Amino acid sequence: MLKEKVEKALNEQIELEQFSSQLYLAMASWAEKNGYNGTANFLYEHSDEEREHMLKLFHYVNDRGSHAIVPQSEKPESEYKSVQKVFEEIYEHEKMISEKINQLVGICYEEKDFTTVNFLQWYVAEQIEEENLFGTILDKLNLLGGDKAKMYMFDNEMEKLTTAPPSDTSL
Ligand code: FEO
Repeated sequence: MLKEKVEKALNEQIELEQFSSQLYLAMASWAEKNGYNGTANFLYEHSDEEREHMLKLFHYVNDRGSHAIVPQSEKPESEYKSVQKVFEEIYEHEKMISEKINQLVGICYEEKDFTTVNFLQWYVAEQIEEENLFGTILDKLNLLGGDKAKMYMFDNEMEKLTTAPPSDTSL
């Protein structure tokens, strides 16, 4: 059974991962409605990945004899100003998630729960990948500067990234 503090912190992380999934789903819908189908597909896929992150934590909590709680997710925004703004928001969001994972690992150390520290190493590594991926996409968008023809090419590249292995951050 997990210590109370660890269980609470893991349930909070479940809530955050669920919100990430909802957020990327809302962004995917906006992108699709605005003709950015490649970006939409990439975001739909990423929304699914966030649900997997949530479920992995969820099963871990129950496997340790504690109780995973289904989060009540906050409703994300449905309108966004531009693709660039979407990725700026995602990048900031992922940096916040990395910080939360680090805090969670800190709590586990304080509680001497080294099994959970070990389990969370996957999330630590995943966050490095996610920050790299979204940082790279954002750098690319900053270079394009909103040029319409180039944005069309960007969207095609996002489609290619959708079917690429998760560790592939090249554009
Ligand atoms: Fe589950 Fe994008 O972090």
